[in-house]
Amino acid sequence: MISKMKTKASIIEGWHFNKEVYKNAHENDRLEKLVTELSNVCNLSCPSCFTKKVDGSWTKKGKKRLIDELSYEDQIALINEAGNLGIRTVDFVGAGEPLLDIRFESIINYIKNLNMYSVVFTHGATPNFQEIAQKFKEDKVSFFIKLWSQNPALQQRYVGGSVPNYLDKRDQALQTLIDLGHNTGTGTVVDGINYQTTRMGADILVMKSNYNEIPDIFRYCRENNIMPEIKTYIPEGPTRFSHELAKQKYSLNELIKLRKDEISTEAFEELRKEIKRIDQDEFGIPRMDVLYPQGCKCTQSIGSLYVTVQGDIRSCVGTHVSYGKYMPRKDMLSKTLQKRKTKERLSFDCIPRIEEEKARNVGN
Ligand SMILES: C[S@@+](CC[C@H](N)C(=O)[O-])C[C@H]1O[C@@H](n2cnc3c(N)ncnc32)[C@H](O)[C@@H]1O
Ligand code: SF4
Repeated sequence: MISKMKTKASIIEGWHFNKEVYKNAHENDRLEKLVTELSNVCNLSCPSCFTKKVDGSWTKKGKKRLIDELSYEDQIALINEAGNLGIRTVDFVGAGEPLLDIRFESIINYIKNLNMYSVVFTHGATPNFQEIAQKFKEDKVSFFIKLWSQNPALQQRYVGGSVPNYLDKRDQALQTLIDLGHNTGTGTVVDGINYQTTRMGADILVMKSNYNEIPDIFRYCRENNIMPEIKTYIPEGPTRFSHELAKQKYSLNELIKLRKDEISTEAFEELRKEIKRIDQDEFGIPRMDVLYPQGCKCTQSIGSLYVTVQGDIRSCVGTHVSYGKYMPRKDMLSKTLQKRKTKERLSFDCIPRIEEEKARNVGN
């Protein structure tokens, strides 16, 4: 009989707001969050990377800077414009590895001085990781780390690229954040759920090949107050399998491997049940009705906009509807918020994944 550990579910700082807050922003053509990117440069080359879109911008070793990336001045203008519309959080979801962009620190400091939260998705294996984690250890800066496998060979296969022993470096990054106290937080209630805040998250992409590992990865998260974001492929880039053009853009061999490794909706729902059971039986955490199993709702669509490093304005990372290229001083964010009301459905669940499922028969 496993003894129950008394703990709470974890919620990452910057995502710890009630649904009403996002809905209010949406209804009043305001914003709660900006989702954006820094440079496309990355020293890894994950075959499934959803930001691999521009022809010739990646090799087997890594991803390159794009010629038309937003300038520093435009990125600051974008943050200010979103700030005037009410944002409290900026999520950095790419395009490459944010910590490899030389402007990373300046931009995070800029956001910090506006008293906003930064949520940074990072692979954790850059030479400056420790220094950055140390610098922002007291600040409203949260890090999501890629936690797809605890098996060194498998995790290495997932990331490709020019970083040997990736898993060791990733684990060092996790330990650094824990040692610096990024996983400490306070109790809070969001959407009626009792949470503990944290500034550490785990990006957990579920495939057939790592399916059996997920329960233990989840337990590790719970034991360390790391917010788990357990999910399936984002239907973009090479993992937008319904898109015919993908066959021309990506290596057919890689596409076949990715497609074969995709889990079915049913398998994901089975896993969700198992994660709920683990929470209830081992951690005393009640079942939650949220998109990411025992994590939280999606906060990247309602009351939020996504602007890529090339300035492309979209509703979120999974949609294909573009509202044009961002230009400062043209009120483009405000105009987009009005336009998209009649163009797109938004949700705290994931509409792009549902649409992708409809477009084809998801993988058995
Ligand atoms: C594009 S990456 C950029 C940040 C950083 N380089 C990293 O990989 O952590 C943003 C997040 O998307 C995840 N990701 C990449 N490709 C994905 C896909 N096809 N489906 C779901 N998540 C994906 C990554 O693991 C990461 O957490
Ligand atoms: S580490 Fe991140 S940006 Fe780099 S290739 Fe992988 S998913 Fe893409």
